[in-house]
Amino acid sequence: MSSSFFGHRIIHLESVDSTNNYTAKVFKSGEVQSGAVIMADIQTNGRGQREKTWHSGAYENLTFSLTADINLWKINTLIDLNRLIAISLHSFFNELGLSPKIKWPNDIMINDKKVCGILIENFFRESQPKSIIGIGINVNQQEFEVPRATSLFNEIKERHSTKELLFQFIKVLNATFESMPIHDSEKIHAEYDKYLWKRNEEWTFNSNDQEFIGQIYGTTRDGNLIVNTKDEKFVFPNGSVKY
Ligand code: BTN
Repeated sequence: MSSSFFGHRIIHLESVDSTNNYTAKVFKSGEVQSGAVIMADIQTNGRGQREKTWHSGAYENLTFSLTADINLWKINTLIDLNRLIAISLHSFFNELGLSPKIKWPNDIMINDKKVCGILIENFFRESQPKSIIGIGINVNQQEFEVPRATSLFNEIKERHSTKELLFQFIKVLNATFESMPIHDSEKIHAEYDKYLWKRNEEWTFNSNDQEFIGQIYGTTRDGNLIVNTKDEKFVFPNGSVKY
């Protein structure tokens, strides 16, 4: 397997509180370097965005974290890193024969349901910046407590080995980082915007408890969401609009 960016080191744990917590520890201590991948079959305290819990059935799903040092790879910004990961996941689900979309900022949707979530955590006080990219992909789980969630099984009616999927994903990830102009923020931005869920479609949004109809136009250079209504253009920072 080519491991030009990710996967020179893969650690497989049976159980851990959160692969992001574990990865932060071993990345900060210098035990692993940029590009390492840490997966776990069970997370006892999986974490999602905005302090939420990420529930994932034991042995059912793929839960893992990647390490990255954007300076080392000359990636301009954390937004670019975030977009490159979302683009890679988009290609990965595409290769599985699905029609994925990226729900801003970085959920992956299939048939209007979430199949994958990403939690990126950055540490800048270190001598080199360190990013931990936590990814949860619903694989064989069939029932979910949260609405609008799906899994590969629910979409293709086939069980998958989580480890095989991880190897497949790392291949796609490296191919994406090798083929994309990773130093060119504009190109990354344009590619990411192409795959946005509900782009140019009329949809209902909610911001500050106010509902309105609009259409996603794209994202700004620094990662905010642009929504056009009949007579206005809105720009939303992460967390300030639901849809
Ligand atoms: C979200 O959509 O809210 C983000 C979910 C991220 C979940 C993954 S699972 C692997 C890694 N470890 C964690 O504790 N969280 C991320």
